[in-house]
Amino acid sequence: MSEPPGEAAAEQDAREREVLARVLASFADTPDPRMRTVMQSLVRHLHAFLREARITEAEWAQAIAFLTDAGHITDARRQEFVLLSDVLGASMQTITINHPAVAAATEATVLGPFFVQGSPHVELGGDIAFGAPGEPCWVQGQVLDTAGRPVPGARLEVWEADDDGLYDVQREGDRLSARAHLFADAEGRYRFWALTPTPYPIPHDGPVGRLLAATARSPMRAPHLHFKVAAPGCRELITHIFVDGDPLLGSDAVFGVRESLIKRFERQAPGTPAPDGRPLGDAAWSRVRFDVVLAPAGR
Ligand SMILES: [Fe+2]
Repeated sequence: MSEPPGEAAAEQDAREREVLARVLASFADTPDPRMRTVMQSLVRHLHAFLREARITEAEWAQAIAFLTDAGHITDARRQEFVLLSDVLGASMQTITINHPAVAAATEATVLGPFFVQGSPHVELGGDIAFGAPGEPCWVQGQVLDTAGRPVPGARLEVWEADDDGLYDVQREGDRLSARAHLFADAEGRYRFWALTPTPYPIPHDGPVGRLLAATARSPMRAPHLHFKVAAPGCRELITHIFVDGDPLLGSDAVFGVRESLIKRFERQAPGTPAPDGRPLGDAAWSRVRFDVVLAPAGR
């Protein structure tokens, strides 16, 4: 005599819950309470995912093979797990959680994999390109606190891809280009030459690229210029500015775009005099203004 279907389903549900309960209990004696909380939360959500999606054994084996591939392709210059975190929105969500909104303060976004310590210093008005190919872009603004007061001497780190969509660290050799740091003046004002940002793909020749292809997603990042701004008494800001009107703004591969970070890059006709008198010949160039508002430290 076969049992009623409802009873079989109830028995199956009970078995699955029993597995979950045993795994949760195995972490009950974790000495560090924070680690206990994190591990039990991870287990609860992982099991909820497995049960909700009814993951097959073949699919789980595929997931493990994917992570194995991600490990194999990762080395000192290539970090596939950061890419995975980025394309799943986990990087952006972690930033969002840990940089609570402070009214008027500039919003944070992802650091990305291409920041490097030890960038060259440029004076105010200097050129961060250091020979990287691209259209010149004049960037200026003021660093302020949330009360609107200038933040004197703030340190700004800036970096970006060149016209070929590549960062210096993706090229052969150790030459640094399209990155620098500079210091705002006594009124928090800063200015420098950079390159008009262009779109580029995140590295997509590995497992994360295959994941994007299989899910009909683009590896392209919306054009942007990275900033890291620090000053005593202020919360460090890691952010980008994005190019207003760019068609990739709505489909950024790593979910880094915030509406407030989209800036107008004004294209200047060839021959338009540069703000600092730099001779640009008949080259086109652009300019953008970005005022940075830093939240108080500890917020
Ligand atoms: Fe970037």
